[in-house]
Amino acid sequence: MKIFNPFSLLVFLSFTTISISSHLFSPLDNYLINTGSTLSTTFNNRLFTPEHSSFSTSPHSISITNQNPFPNSPSIYHTARVFTKSTKYTFPVKTKGTHFVRFHFHAFNSSNLDLGHAKFQILVNGYVVLSNFTRFLSDCVKNPRVVEYLIWVDYEKVEIVFVPEKDLNFGFVNAIEVVSAPNDLVLETAQFLSEEGLKSFDDLNKQAFEVVYRVTVGGPKVTPFNDSLPRTWVTDDEFLKSSDGSERFYFGGRINYRVGGASREVGPDNIYNTARLIKSKNDYVPNVNMTWVFPVVGGYKYLVRLHFCDIASISMRLLYFNVYVNGYLALEDFDLSLVTNALASPFYADFVVDGDSSVGALNVSIGPSKSTLAHVVDGMLNAVEVMKLNNTHKSLDGNVCANFVLNSHRSSGNTGILLTLAAAACIVLSLSIVIRRRIVESRETVSWSRLPVNLSEDSVKG
Ligand SMILES: *[C@@H]1O[C@H](CO)[C@@H](O)[C@H](O)[C@H]1NC(C)=O
Ligand SMILES: *[C@@H]1O[C@H](CO)[C@@H](O)[C@H](O)[C@H]1NC(C)=O
Ligand SMILES: *[C@@H]1O[C@H](CO)[C@@H](O)[C@H](O)[C@H]1NC(C)=O
Ligand SMILES: *[C@@H]1O[C@H](CO)[C@@H](O)[C@H](O)[C@H]1NC(C)=O
Ligand SMILES: *[C@@H]1O[C@H](CO)[C@@H](O)[C@H](O)[C@H]1NC(C)=O
Ligand SMILES: *[C@@H]1O[C@H](CO)[C@@H](O)[C@H](O)[C@H]1NC(C)=O
Repeated sequence: MKIFNPFSLLVFLSFTTISISSHLFSPLDNYLINTGSTLSTTFNNRLFTPEHSSFSTSPHSISITNQNPFPNSPSIYHTARVFTKSTKYTFPVKTKGTHFVRFHFHAFNSSNLDLGHAKFQILVNGYVVLSNFTRFLSDCVKNPRVVEYLIWVDYEKVEIVFVPEKDLNFGFVNAIEVVSAPNDLVLETAQFLSEEGLKSFDDLNKQAFEVVYRVTVGGPKVTPFNDSLPRTWVTDDEFLKSSDGSERFYFGGRINYRVGGASREVGPDNIYNTARLIKSKNDYVPNVNMTWVFPVVGGYKYLVRLHFCDIASISMRLLYFNVYVNGYLALEDFDLSLVTNALASPFYADFVVDGDSSVGALNVSIGPSKSTLAHVVDGMLNAVEVMKLNNTHKSLDGNVCANFVLNSHRSSGNTGILLTLAAAACIVLSLSIVIRRRIVESRETVSWSRLPVNLSEDSVKG
């Protein structure tokens, strides 16, 4: 008789998990919601399901359908949920750690509502992630726009609140994703780079981030189809400002992912097998930089993640270069093979910098260093990500904190004056919010099925 051995099962299971996770990341929390629809739909090979009544607790919403969608537009963008009052979605999560929170927006005209007039704010777990939807509006009329945030989740849920700007205004969303991220996506520390040089930036993973740019350098656009965390990496052409002597490079071999370097989740093969290079012309090392400029809103800190993979050198210890962020030396005489110990092996470096309001842009430069050799490759970059960090008001969009957003929405009155008092009010409100929240929670417990049917045109037009 065979005796069941629980230990061997455990060993078997843990090995299976390891081998699965090294091939394909499968998130434990994976909510893909086709808001405003009663149907499931597949988009980018992922199944988006209709809203479940337990996700939200507000009756002040309707679902609308685009009667004249663009030909070939994915069906996920044919419906939207429209909110006329603050509406909360609650997603229970299984894993503590960084989560992707993505919102899909495609403004359309339905029979009596132009989504192009929406004015609303979004809160996620007490962060103001979006306070001025207008800044995304022009992007999401012709084509859909996906806005992505990375949020550290300490407790058991992700709470998303849509707050229409005024009582007569409204918000909308076509789809929502709440997906756990791999543990190594955002680490605990980065380097803070300023005129004083480099110093440690701790608790990086506890910040909230808005993904502002995700750029593959030298290669074609990378679509969610070729990224295990379905991300889009746009081309660098519009950001590359000075490219004297640089060239694109494509590598057809295998990308050598190694422990301690970047994993395939940090960056897919398609971003590492292309790059831009500076190369010697015979025995002459060109005295140039490749520079990329990224327009940003000032007054926030930004995480600049630089991806490197030496796909072009003929052997190790030949490539040395300098890396500058905002003109400050970030990596000096950088020898990629020293950290990867192999060719075609991905590596990334994280720098936190201040976004300067007067400049309105971040820049990254790569150029030869004092150790650069002739006859070989003299500088390289494969990809860049730029992510905005929340400010001290726990906001990614303005200086108004979440409690104030919730309360100013409920009270009518002169919000202009109220806004200037916002900072002070946040402190007071945070004391009273607990009491108010209890009242609100006991009031708003109606499920999705009870939607208002008599929402007239007047009541939703701003
Ligand atoms: C809706 O239609 C109006 C009138 O044709 C147009 O001005 C507006 O831009 C449209 N809105 C969207 C989001 O397409
Ligand atoms: C919101 O964004 C729009 C477009 O970027 C801008 O014109 C407007 O001034 C912003 N509003 C506020 C209150 O910041
Ligand atoms: C995926 O990447 C391969 C090259 O690695 C490319 O040929 C293909 O077009 C890409 N697919 C999509 C859908 O982007
Ligand atoms: C890069 O940024 C720094 C600091 O903001 C600025 O002084 C410099 O002029 C910028 N360089 C380019 C090429 O934009
Ligand atoms: C490259 O950029 C850095 C930082 O802005 C600057 O100090 C250096 O002089 C530049 N090198 C060249 C050759 O322009
Ligand atoms: C972001 O918010 C957290 C609170 O959750 C705060 O500790 C941190 O200092 C904020 N980040 C910045 C850069 O102000």
